[in-house]
Amino acid sequence: MMYLLVAVLCVSGGYVSAQAPAFCKNAECPQFNTISSNQNYAIRQYGPLTWATTSFVGQWKSNILGQLFGRLFNYIQGNNTLGQVMPMTVPVLTRIESAGQAGTKYTMHFMIPASNSRNIPGPVDPNVSLMTTPPATYYIRSFGGYANGQKSMSELQTLVNSINNPQTYDDNFFMTATYDSPSVKTNRHNEVWLQKIA
Ligand SMILES: *[C@@H]1O[C@H](CO)[C@@H](O)[C@H](O)[C@H]1NC(C)=O
Ligand SMILES: *[C@@H]1O[C@H](CO)[C@@H](O)[C@H](O)[C@H]1NC(C)=O
Repeated sequence: MMYLLVAVLCVSGGYVSAQAPAFCKNAECPQFNTISSNQNYAIRQYGPLTWATTSFVGQWKSNILGQLFGRLFNYIQGNNTLGQVMPMTVPVLTRIESAGQAGTKYTMHFMIPASNSRNIPGPVDPNVSLMTTPPATYYIRSFGGYANGQKSMSELQTLVNSINNPQTYDDNFFMTATYDSPSVKTNRHNEVWLQKIA
């Protein structure tokens, strides 16, 4: 019990590459504890994490995710208050939620690398913000190949069906996690996340 508690409290920030899961390849990715897993999903616990984020609210357009990616990429490429270039981390996490009449809200996140966490460069683009997410537990379903919107929705539906208990997650939003650039052709890794609340 004590050991578990210590392990949980230690989860925060990113993995140094030697300990990272294989699907992070050579990129820094957030640390987590796997609470349990089955053939359909895993339950992972993440500590507080700091991200650069940018959002779009409206009706889906095919170039939206590319635009959001471009803003965050610009930020890590040195268009920030310190003129600092930061390494790309994984996953590219996108939170998707209803915005009522306005349509859908898409918020893309790039994790701030550990090496920049003591002095985080401020964004120059007014549409890019820094955000720290509190510790949270997620139901996570992994899948391969290229993750388009349709594929992600079908994997999300499989995750929902497998959990088979809507009381245990927040159904106001879901997240998609992408670990590979489009140029990676094989052994791709993607995830859909639902935040566990009970
Ligand atoms: C830096 O960001 C600002 C605000 O988004 C933008 O106007 C400018 O073109 C960017 N500069 C470069 C070099 O990308
Ligand atoms: C910032 O976001 C607003 C609302 O989505 C948009 O109208 C504006 O063009 C964006 N500005 C930049 C610099 O991308």
